[in-house]
Amino acid sequence: MGRLTDRVAVITGGASGIGAAAAEKLVSEGAVVVLGDIQEQGGAEMLAKLGDRARFKLCDVTNEDQVEALIKSAVDEFGKLDVMFNNAGIVGALGPLESTTREEWQFTLDILLNGVFYGMKHASRQMKQQRSGKSASLAIMGRSAVLKSLSQAGAPNTFAPILK
Ligand SMILES: NC(=O)c1ccc[n+]([C@@H]2O[C@H](COP(=O)([O-])OP(=O)(O)OC[C@H]3O[C@@H](n4cnc5c(N)ncnc54)[C@H](O)[C@@H]3O)[C@@H](O)[C@H]2O)c1
Repeated sequence: MGRLTDRVAVITGGASGIGAAAAEKLVSEGAVVVLGDIQEQGGAEMLAKLGDRARFKLCDVTNEDQVEALIKSAVDEFGKLDVMFNNAGIVGALGPLESTTREEWQFTLDILLNGVFYGMKHASRQMKQQRSGKSASLAIMGRSAVLKSLSQAGAPNTFAPILK
């Protein structure tokens, strides 16, 4: 019996890196994991590694419908959602700030902020209904140097509390 026996976890960006490592740890503790990622090959490799306690669904976190469908697939199959790990992310706009394009900035926000918002929103709906569950959002702490430089420069401090 692991510490997380039969807990149900959804992990975005679960096909590699920190998300994949979290999936392995959760499964080793008895949880089932539903991984969402844009990397189909990585997802297939995770399924081969984790066996029948894992599922994979293609999911681009910039698309709210896909994030909602990812969470719904976990609830439909396993009946609940105990853990939502908003992990999918990119390095993001690297700067320097002065030459960052609108497209680089928008791409960064779409993944690191909007993607986390969609995950929290749809997980929260389910968790409130079942009156239990926990979310963690690593992506919002992303490595974007431009996000960090905004907070360090004292620009409207939207990001400061979450970049500490
Ligand atoms: N590694 C670090 O030093 C560090 C530091 C701070 C924060 N983070 C954040 O932690 C998270 C994981 O980092 P990592 O080092 O494992 O990165 P990684 O690049 O190894 O893994 C990120 C995963 O997210 C997936 N992904 C990217 N865009 C996606 C999208 N639009 N929809 C769904 N999946 C998508 C990738 O395919 C990949 O599997 C990221 O959000 C990253 O910004 C990492």
